[in-house]
Amino acid sequence: MTRPFDIQGHRGARALFPENTLAGFQAAYALGVTTFELDVGLTADGLVVVAHDPALNPDITRDASGAWLRDEGPAIRSLSYADLSSYDVGRVRPGSRTSLLFPDQKPHDGDRIPTLAAVLAALPNARFTIEVKTDPTRPERTASANILTDATLAVIAATGAAGRVIVESFDWRVQRHVRQVRPDITLAWLTSAETVRNAAVWWNGTVPAGTVPEAVAAEGGPIWAPDHTELTETLVKEAHALGLLVLPWTVNRPADMRRLIDWGVDGLISDRPDLALSLPG
Ligand code: G3P
Ligand code: CA
Repeated sequence: MTRPFDIQGHRGARALFPENTLAGFQAAYALGVTTFELDVGLTADGLVVVAHDPALNPDITRDASGAWLRDEGPAIRSLSYADLSSYDVGRVRPGSRTSLLFPDQKPHDGDRIPTLAAVLAALPNARFTIEVKTDPTRPERTASANILTDATLAVIAATGAAGRVIVESFDWRVQRHVRQVRPDITLAWLTSAETVRNAAVWWNGTVPAGTVPEAVAAEGGPIWAPDHTELTETLVKEAHALGLLVLPWTVNRPADMRRLIDWGVDGLISDRPDLALSLPG
């Protein structure tokens, strides 16, 4: 399988613009980023929304009065979309860990958590890797894997976006369900050191006998999305020999981007997709 090198803006372009917001995706698109990774959850009234955290994150969330949340806020699954829309996620709280990680992020006050449908509709020429954020170790935090996956697939179908999305998850029940009900949709299999260590839970009973690329290949691929800090050149070669594409996350330093490209990865998920796009050769 040959494809152009796939540079994906992580949560939009998280180091530059507020994460997982419509304005952030649009601003990154204006810089030339045409593929985005994003995360989805489900509101109490059944809307698929673009948000990384199962509950409102105090590092990026202000309430309707403009006050920063002191602690983790309500769970997204507990709020209607109207109630969720009262929160502003267009700025990082000064002094927070996120502000230290992304000092160059430009605020865009007034941003709301968008629906997936709005994002797909607003960027009809962009491609998206949609991470279904369920966690089998904390099932009470979100909708179930099947319910969130089905709701996500319904949005993809309603917006006619099936040909320009990839669905991914650390929770492999998601991809297996997609394969059953929408075998035409491209899948990526996310892994991290933690999910591999606890594979019996994250991969729902499958304890891998062999390597991680072998486990992804056994699921049918076509994309393996590993933590780039766990990746080696040998693993890239092994994955390719198994017919997989390799899409590491979240690669933000040009030296790491360069090294991974030299190893032959097929794309990168990055908070600085602009840097990845500007790498020579
Ligand atoms: O796409 C993979 C990457 O986004 C996984 O990490 O925590 O940013 O969702 P996280
Ligand atoms: Ca993600």
